[in-house]
Amino acid sequence: MSATWPRRPRLVAGNWKMHLTPADGAALAREFVALRAADPAAATSAVALCPPFTALSAVAEAVRGSGVFVGAQNMHAELKGAFTGEISGPMLASLGCRFVILGHSERRHVMGETDAMVAAKLRSALRDGLTPIVCVGELLAEREGNKTEEVLVRQIAAAYAGLDAATAKTTVIAYEPVWAIGTGKVASPEQARDAHRVVRATLDQVVGGGTGSDVAILYGGSVNAGNAATLFLEDDIDGALVGGAALEAAGFWKIAAAAAVAR
Ligand code: 13P
Repeated sequence: MSATWPRRPRLVAGNWKMHLTPADGAALAREFVALRAADPAAATSAVALCPPFTALSAVAEAVRGSGVFVGAQNMHAELKGAFTGEISGPMLASLGCRFVILGHSERRHVMGETDAMVAAKLRSALRDGLTPIVCVGELLAEREGNKTEEVLVRQIAAAYAGLDAATAKTTVIAYEPVWAIGTGKVASPEQARDAHRVVRATLDQVVGGGTGSDVAILYGGSVNAGNAATLFLEDDIDGALVGGAALEAAGFWKIAAAAAVAR
């Protein structure tokens, strides 16, 4: 993935959440890089490792020159200021981050992030030269109440209203149904496909200019080495945002390799 953003790049991102020290993170990154280097034919999907802030430097150093990207899990919308405990986009960029995950369900539902905060962060990430991975997804009660489409439309509209199509196409969206995160209950390929189609249709309404068909949409929620290939057979699924299964190099490599061969 170079300066020119390809249409709908294949991307697998590992969200390490609050796991691993700098030393352990660097060791995992080195192990992953070695597996990827040993199998160049399968190394055509883009990969981003997203460790905690404290391990970003060590992981960036471990992947240097390998073609594997580094991303952060959150950022503050402001450039700097009196925001104790927060990290700005330029700080992340200075550590070698290419990506930043925004609006993860754990940020929305545990830390109280609102649609408006996610929208502000999206604009700031673009300002700061980071590629945002914008997370959307419904709670179990919302799915059971047939509200999935309504939730996705609301979250996407709030985040993308006012962005131009060329800019919106350089972002990445992750559909992560909250009921599938960390539960072992992966969405079926059909459920994921249908949700991704809702996201694409909403982008066409809100942004226009062919954004819906050109933006990369990842699926996240209990993706592992055993179920990834089936998900990637769906044309509307461009990759994965992986939690638990990203904490083990061999399994995460299988997921990244599956994304590469699926298209
Ligand atoms: P799991 O893969 O552990 O379900 O986590 C998904 C996730 O939240 C990735 O951002």
